[in-house]
Amino acid sequence: MKVSKKVAGVEYAIRDIVSAAREIEKQGKIVDYLNIGDPVQFGFQPPENVKRALINAVNDGNNFYTQSEGLPELLDAIAKKENSKGLSISSEHVLVTNGVSEGLDMIISSIVEDGDEVLLPGPYYPPYASYVRLHGGKPIEFEVDLETSQPNIDDLKSKISSKTVAICLITPNNPTGSIFNEKSLKEIVDIANEHDLYIICDEIYDKIVFDEKFTGIGKVSGDAPVILLNGFSKVHLMSGWRIGYIVFNDSPKLDSIRENLPKLARVRISTNLPVQYAALESLRGPQDYITNFVTELKKRRDYVISRLNSMNNISCSNPKGAFYAFPKIENNRFESDKEFVLELLKQKNVLTVHGSGFGTKYGNGHFRIVYLPNMGILESSMNKIEDFVR
Ligand SMILES: Cc1ncc(COP(=O)(O)O)c(C=O)c1O
Repeated sequence: MKVSKKVAGVEYAIRDIVSAAREIEKQGKIVDYLNIGDPVQFGFQPPENVKRALINAVNDGNNFYTQSEGLPELLDAIAKKENSKGLSISSEHVLVTNGVSEGLDMIISSIVEDGDEVLLPGPYYPPYASYVRLHGGKPIEFEVDLETSQPNIDDLKSKISSKTVAICLITPNNPTGSIFNEKSLKEIVDIANEHDLYIICDEIYDKIVFDEKFTGIGKVSGDAPVILLNGFSKVHLMSGWRIGYIVFNDSPKLDSIRENLPKLARVRISTNLPVQYAALESLRGPQDYITNFVTELKKRRDYVISRLNSMNNISCSNPKGAFYAFPKIENNRFESDKEFVLELLKQKNVLTVHGSGFGTKYGNGHFRIVYLPNMGILESSMNKIEDFVR
């Protein structure tokens, strides 16, 4: 039976590569998984008060379909959080989703038609390109300097065409950890305003920041057509519970999408109600678990980056946020970065992700490491990678 070309073309390198690791495990070997950016799989858990809020919601009978837009108290709490980062919106500008992933799908399907172009920061989190292609569009990468962490604005401008409909930003970024500063964000907002382009900004790592204060897009949005994506999988350690949200800036240019996109939320009825109570508690309750998590991650980042930079033929910029390192392979003697990653897996049983899975233009020649595992595992994985590149 046939399937659509659109769906056959969907790729997700981070998970697609796992089948190769399963083959190694079948040979009785133990694989170090440094591929999935899920803190909860590496020993970090939501705090007790958040778990209790979920259990209480179930026990209190909150097990029904809820409003498609989301639980009103949660919408309020989200509006408050995003306003504290710089936006000026009300709870009516918020829509709760089954993760940022669903929010992204809803946005892209609402704005992209066949042949439309969407600008993505190179390298980017793969679902951005997948959803654009799935909905008939074309992802176009613009350059981001990994050393300065800033976008190349001239390059971005040169890639705008009559078909461009949106500019996507991911800050802090997956896979590079780069964070756009206020000046870059402002410049991009001005460009979007001038050309009537949507800005879709993913801030799912907004509190996982190590060296400098984080500036959110809200701070410079004014009344530009900015759509923010955020969620609870990373900072709030609720990945498996699948919850995120969309926030529309208060912009007249967004009137049409604000009217139409919620239809998609109604079609899928609602998101998980008990989890919405847990998300509410994670925003309202004590926030010290986030500080502890980030302090621990910073140690792991410092260790991994220093080890990588001491290896022959590897160089790595310092990620400013999130939990990924994106080293460059110098003098790669394998055919491609994917071949490098597969050989590393075969010879040393360490699973990473090839950089070209995050965009062939700027991701090429790199690989991505998740530094969420504990120091013991990180040390042994770094030893294996060092041995391999030697
Ligand atoms: C930039 C970015 N956005 C979104 C997601 C997925 O978010 P969610 O779990 O809310 O669907 C990820 C997960 O790795 C990510 O790195």
